[in-house]
Amino acid sequence: MNQQLADRLRFLRAFATNPRQVGAILPTSRLAVRDMLDMADVPGASLVVELGAGTGSQTGEVLARMAPDARLLALEIDPRLAKVLEERFDDPRLQVVCDSAENLREHLGEERADVLVCALPFTSFEPGLRRRILDSLPGVLRPDGVALIIQYSPLIQSELRRLFPSVRRRISPLNVPPAFLFACRLREDQG
Ligand SMILES: C[S@@+](CC[C@H](N)C(=O)[O-])C[C@H]1O[C@@H](n2cnc3c(N)ncnc32)[C@H](O)[C@@H]1O
Repeated sequence: MNQQLADRLRFLRAFATNPRQVGAILPTSRLAVRDMLDMADVPGASLVVELGAGTGSQTGEVLARMAPDARLLALEIDPRLAKVLEERFDDPRLQVVCDSAENLREHLGEERADVLVCALPFTSFEPGLRRRILDSLPGVLRPDGVALIIQYSPLIQSELRRLFPSVRRRISPLNVPPAFLFACRLREDQG
């Protein structure tokens, strides 16, 4: 079985077990991942954080773009998916943490991210969890950092605008379903 098919099956199994946690039946397409990462300077980043890494659709492309001395901290709550990530990417720049995005600050310590890549299914989370994670995002970025967020609806856009002075939106129409891509910055003059 090729890797793409195996990933789709793993993903579908994770969705069947916990649909609200996974929030999609397919991993993000390569095209949407590229559209998303094109909205930030990944090669210039020292620290990239990924939330909801799944089977690694974004992880592989982030590693391909990252500098040799940069680091990627990837959080994934599902232990089976976190194990897939650890086994797949033999790259010393990557640290996979099996934990909720709610606890990101504990794993970051005093560090802050240049780029945060987030594929969490915010619209299927219970409101308290959604609010806690979204509210934490500005505080985990460096002042010139950017949070890239992919969603399958524009519903969280107003919450993002409440949290970030600059929110740019793009649509990646060929993803299934079409994806809304947000680039959120702490300063209006960036990007
Ligand atoms: C829509 S999938 C995206 C997976 C992958 N990044 C992609 O784009 O194909 C959402 C992922 O977030 C994970 N997840 C859900 N809630 C989480 C949480 N609180 N903390 C960390 N990961 C979480 C799910 O297990 C799932 O792998």
